[in-house]
Amino acid sequence: MSDTIQIICNILKAGNIENFRQEARWIMEDAGNPETAVNIAQQRAAGAPLQYLLGTAPFRNLMLKVDPRVLIPRPETELLAQWLIDHAPYSGDILDLGCGSGAIAIAAATERNDLHVTAADISPDALTLARENAALCGANNICFIQSNLFSSLTERKFDLIGANLPYVTEEEFQTLPPEVKNFEPVLALTAPDNGLALILKTIAALAGHLKPGGGAIFELSPHQAATAANAVEDAGFNAGIIRDFCNRERFVTATRQ
Ligand SMILES: C[S@@+](CC[C@H](N)C(=O)[O-])C[C@H]1O[C@@H](n2cnc3c(N)ncnc32)[C@H](O)[C@@H]1O
Repeated sequence: MSDTIQIICNILKAGNIENFRQEARWIMEDAGNPETAVNIAQQRAAGAPLQYLLGTAPFRNLMLKVDPRVLIPRPETELLAQWLIDHAPYSGDILDLGCGSGAIAIAAATERNDLHVTAADISPDALTLARENAALCGANNICFIQSNLFSSLTERKFDLIGANLPYVTEEEFQTLPPEVKNFEPVLALTAPDNGLALILKTIAALAGHLKPGGGAIFELSPHQAATAANAVEDAGFNAGIIRDFCNRERFVTATRQ
C-alpha cells in the first residue's frame, strides 16, 4: 500500500468511515494527486457524503453528476424506475415528479427510448443539474419543467407518473445521519403532515393527470404505506404496495384495470 493511501485510510478511519479501505481507493482514483486526495479524505472524515466529494453517483446503469443541489439517488429508487420501465406502454407519456438529479427520468428515457419523458421539480437548481445529466447520458428526449407538483402541468395527462417526493417527517429529520441532515437539500427530504403532504396532494390530483388506464408509483417510508394506499383507493384507483430490497413497504402504486 502506498504512503498516500495509508494516510487516507488513517484519516477515514479516524472519521469512523466504516468502508474506509474501499473509499480510500475510490478517492485515490478520483483525486489525481495526493494533495487533493488528502483534502477529499479530510472532508469525508468530517462527514461530507462521498458522492458529493467525488461529484458522481451511480443509478442503474448511469453515472450521474451530483452536488448539494440534489439528493443523492438511492438504490431503492432504482425499483421505482424499474416499475415505470416495465409498465409504460409503447411510446407512452411518463412524468418524473420531483426529478432531482434526473435519475428516474434519465433511466426511463435511456432504457426505453420510445417513451416521451417529462421531468418536473420545484427547484431550478436541481433542474439545471438534471438537464446537464440528461445531456451527459445522451437522453435527448426529456422535457424538463419547473413545477410545484402539477402547477405548471395543469393541462397535461400522462400514462404513468413516478414520484419520489420528499417524505421524511420533521421528527425523523432530526434523527437522520449527519451525512444526510447536514449536506443533502432539506427541500428534497422533508414534508409536513407526517411527511405525507406532497404525496397525498399528488394522489388527490392524480385523476386529472392520468390518461385512461394510466397509473402512478410513489416512494415513501414504510410507516406511510397504509395511509397512502387508502388515499389511492379513496381517489378511485386500485392501490398496490411494493417492497424494497430489505422487504420494507417502500412504494405505493395507483392503477386502474
Ligand atoms: C427525494 S428527492 C428525489 C429526487 C430524485 N427523483 C431521486 O429519486 O433521486 C425529492 C425532489 O422533489 C423536489 N420537490 C420538493 N417539493 C416539490 C414540489 N412541491 N413540487 C415538485 N418537486 C418538489 C425536490 O426539489 C427534490 O428534487
